[in-house]
Amino acid sequence: MKILKDHSLQAYNTFGLDAKAKQFAAIKSARTISTFLKGNKEALFILGGGSNMLLTNNIEALVLKNEIKGIEIIREFKNQVHVAVGGGENWHQFVLWAIRKKLGGIENLSLIPGTVGASPIQNIGAYGVELKDVFVKLEAIDLSTGKKKVYFKNDCQFGYRDSIFKKKLKGKVLISKVVFRLSKNPKINVSYGAIQSILKEKKIKKPSIKNVSDAVIQIRSSKLPDPKVLGNAGSFFKNPEISKRKFKNLQQQFPNIVFYDLPSGKVKIPAGWLIEQCGWKGKKIGNTGSHAQQALVIVNYGNATGSEIKAHAERVIESVKNKFNIALTPEVNII
Ligand code: FAD
Ligand code: EPU
Repeated sequence: MKILKDHSLQAYNTFGLDAKAKQFAAIKSARTISTFLKGNKEALFILGGGSNMLLTNNIEALVLKNEIKGIEIIREFKNQVHVAVGGGENWHQFVLWAIRKKLGGIENLSLIPGTVGASPIQNIGAYGVELKDVFVKLEAIDLSTGKKKVYFKNDCQFGYRDSIFKKKLKGKVLISKVVFRLSKNPKINVSYGAIQSILKEKKIKKPSIKNVSDAVIQIRSSKLPDPKVLGNAGSFFKNPEISKRKFKNLQQQFPNIVFYDLPSGKVKIPAGWLIEQCGWKGKKIGNTGSHAQQALVIVNYGNATGSEIKAHAERVIESVKNKFNIALTPEVNII
């Protein structure tokens, strides 16, 4: 394992922030890292694609960049297969692999940046599908012992943009492999109106998983900035969930409020709407600001520091709190 010192992380985070890692190593196999960890005393930090983090400081640790590869069908059933994927595989490339093999279940999650190993951490989700819907189990390496552990779906405490890996196990394990259940007879999920509109426009009556993936890519490309062009980490905040009583009071004050009723009885409000109502959409302050097409995304216009972006997030939180009495919580990991 080659260890580099004072290594710039600018190319390894989608905000494009120039923080440094005290030490840096790329991990190519679970076995190498297990062996290394048995004698390790350094503080460790796991890096995937850097698409859900805001680096406000240098990382005073050994940064382990997950590059464990491999996609393999490990079990075949009549209607489905189990696929084991190395944690360092690129998520979208895995989605494209599944589409080529005509295996359904993850097409609605097309074009989400980052690695497969990070996908269970916040239970990635988009357009009516969450990772937990196709998750079987994962293998992780305990960072304090180097031993392998297996976590099944019930162990993972999956929730909206949440799992045990963001709570009790945060920073404690490296997810080296994830096993997914994909379908040979995919059920198409076009519950999102925007997907239906595109299919209608293209006169597609019986959509394939490829058609759905293409529609998702089209929608995402129209409103989410490409990190290669404009640094960002996707939605900066989670969509808040509030009680029905609080919602009814808000609705009286703001009759146009956008909302979704949840099975739990709570109500979800799109944070993008709240932020836009506070006047932040498209507003630029110094090197940062809220994106003009999607107010939930905070962008780096070129030379922002992590602290500048964090200060912008704090301004947004404060104004949403003042106007709506709702506390936004960041989805992005602030380091
Ligand atoms: P990183 O940013 O590298 O890491 C995130 C956290 O996980 C860090 O705390 C890191 O230490 C830890 N970590 C990473 N890999 C491992 C591992 N193998 N083992 C243990 N810990 C690990 N997310 C959605 O859910 N839905 C979306 O629609 C969506 N759209 C996005 C659009 C854009 C343009 C961008 C930039 C981001 C978007 N995201 C979305 C967020 C992001 O893509 C996901 O959170 C993704 O899973 C992060 O993967 P990563 O490999 O980049 O993780
Ligand atoms: N809206 C506004 N103004 C805005 C943005 C949104 O008013 O500037 C309102 C609109 O009414 C819109 C609604 O919010 O219809 C929802 O917006 P959108 O469909 O863009 O989705 P979102 O709730 O902002 C969530 C996820 C995304 C995911 C999409 C699609 C969160 C925090 N974000 O965004 O995930 O791709 O739905 O399913 O749940 C991410 O996690 O990084 C991410 C991009």
